[in-house]
Amino acid sequence: MVAATHKQGGILPSPTWWRDAAIYQLYPRSFADGNGDGVGDLAGARSRLDYLAELGIDAIWFNPWYLSPMADAGYDVADYREIDPLFGTLAEAEKLIQEAHERGIRIIVDIVPNHCSDRHRWFQEALTSQTARERFWFRPGRGDLPPNDWQSIFGGPAWTQVADGQWYLHLFAPEQPDLNWNHPDVRAEFEDVLRFWFDRGVDGIRVDSAALCAKDPALPEPGLSASHPFIDREEVHEIYRSWRTVADSYPDPRALIGEVWLEDQERFARYLRPDEMHAAFNFDFLGCAWDAAALRACIDQTMTWHPSGSWVLSNHDVTRHVTRYGRPDTSTAAGIRQYNPVVDVPLGTRRARAAALLTLALPGSVYIYQGEELGLPEVEDIPAERRDDPIYHRTGGDDPGRDGCRVPLPWSGEREPYGFSPNGAAPPWLPQPDAWSSLSVAVQEPDPASMLSLYRSALRIRAGHPALGDGTMTWLPAPDGVLAFSRGAGFACMVNLSPAAVALPEHAELVLASTPLAGELLAPDTAVWLMAGPLE
Ligand code: NOJ
Repeated sequence: MVAATHKQGGILPSPTWWRDAAIYQLYPRSFADGNGDGVGDLAGARSRLDYLAELGIDAIWFNPWYLSPMADAGYDVADYREIDPLFGTLAEAEKLIQEAHERGIRIIVDIVPNHCSDRHRWFQEALTSQTARERFWFRPGRGDLPPNDWQSIFGGPAWTQVADGQWYLHLFAPEQPDLNWNHPDVRAEFEDVLRFWFDRGVDGIRVDSAALCAKDPALPEPGLSASHPFIDREEVHEIYRSWRTVADSYPDPRALIGEVWLEDQERFARYLRPDEMHAAFNFDFLGCAWDAAALRACIDQTMTWHPSGSWVLSNHDVTRHVTRYGRPDTSTAAGIRQYNPVVDVPLGTRRARAAALLTLALPGSVYIYQGEELGLPEVEDIPAERRDDPIYHRTGGDDPGRDGCRVPLPWSGEREPYGFSPNGAAPPWLPQPDAWSSLSVAVQEPDPASMLSLYRSALRIRAGHPALGDGTMTWLPAPDGVLAFSRGAGFACMVNLSPAAVALPEHAELVLASTPLAGELLAPDTAVWLMAGPLE
């Protein structure tokens, strides 16, 4: 059943809200700039809460807003209990949580347990104290070489040397030292951080890099033993079991949502055991090609291992799906980001519209990455000197990085900053394309054919229809290349991924179409929601 969670007058209690919520991913740097410094902030987010309520979402996930030197856009946290001045103050965050709740919108914050910032007090202490080093992974080198050959996920070695010759481990940038989760201080500190945010009314936690926190203390090269030295080790589950105890100690349920990138679905599902996390992003779906057989296999697999769905099409780490779906190869098999000059944006947009109806009809919760409701494409021509992402810089540009999906939103107007910042403000932290005036909220709001109108309609229907959200699905017979399924109560979704138009079922009543229909045919790359008729 759909929990009616976003009604006027506050949050309605729902013990399983995370099972069917529509969750908006708000990337604070790029959502709305309240103070005119060209970077989004909490003042901007607060001023746009009505937009989000109108969109019809149930919860907002905020990417990190904590004190940070911003070596990795806030995923290098210097103080987990402070808001970075770039974004605002703790008092503003508290107001924001309250104002969201008044609109019936829940708040999820991002906790980064694998690493902190090199400016974090603990790491500063570690520079001068051997005892304080035990909270991290410090080791002597092999002569002039680092302790082992592990490579950073952002490119280059995973070790950096400090002044006295020792090295410390960082699976990401050198400014992000990995924490040692065998140390009791680390465990106690994060449980306290969870309580700090739960006590301020936060409804859920998104757990960053959740499968990486536990390390083999012998730090061997990968492949030497059955278990990987830092990916998905058994010990990691103990951490989330204790976090679950903290979450469950609150009277109204607080949710844990894992960022768990694992191909093996059985291993992935272990994070979702009843005493661990509530949900984990479905990256298999995000990476799936625009192909009926592949999507069907992915959906079946999800229903087996993760029936609360957590469907996701885009986020702040991957190429936006309008662009992905407009490429000759629509999967992310070649990498979640790639250079590829061949992009058919109108085709990608058409498919993104169909994908929205598919995703919002599937059983479970769904994540909407800011700007996907506007149909924003990836920005692929950001000049090198304006790029911010350490992935771009640490790979010497071999990997395009993630700036292209993080460009500030267009709200209104004919030119940059498109209402993102107040008049007379500093330029947006990343340049916005000239063509974005046609994608602004102000242009799309009154247009019934816009992507924004499609999302609003679909979210409104999804919230009100008893068959949608949490529950089950049944595949219906369909021609090759077509996905058709029922959600019960006479509700069905049909998506045509084949190159030819197909007939719609007789007697069915059209609820919503991703692209206007011509007669009784469903054109390629179009999805419909249908009611009644002989659907089951
Ligand atoms: C995953 C986050 O989504 C990404 O943006 C970040 O760079 C890494 N974890 C490191 O925290």
